[in-house]
Amino acid sequence: MTSFTKDILPKFRPEDIGCMRSMGVRFADPNWMTDPGGDADYPDYANARRVFAKLQDGSMPPDGAWSSEWLAAYEAWIADGFNP
Ligand code: HEM
Repeated sequence: MTSFTKDILPKFRPEDIGCMRSMGVRFADPNWMTDPGGDADYPDYANARRVFAKLQDGSMPPDGAWSSEWLAAYEAWIADGFNP
């Protein structure tokens, strides 16, 4: 069973965390990343899904997209139910 803290959080660099925290994107915070709340764009887990959308389209991080292995790990975390 994948967990955010063990399998996903270590993939975010200090510069990722620092740059995005100032924009309210708190992916170093397991509570923020596992918030089940939806919004206008996503029916549920809007924070985690918006982060994944930017990783998947390769627009983030700006200095180079995640590998397909890392994207697959994130997808497995989603499939396993967004465990903290
Ligand atoms: C794994 C790393 C990163 C992820 C997952 C990520 C994720 C995101 C997300 C989800 C947004 C949209 C925010 C919104 O719509 O409210 C965004 C926007 C943005 N991010 Fe990142 N980010 C990452 C790294 C970075 C880094 C390192 C920088 C700065 C050097 C950066 C600069 C920006 C900027 C300027 C925007 C606003 C413009 C845009 O939407 O393209 N990000 N990012």
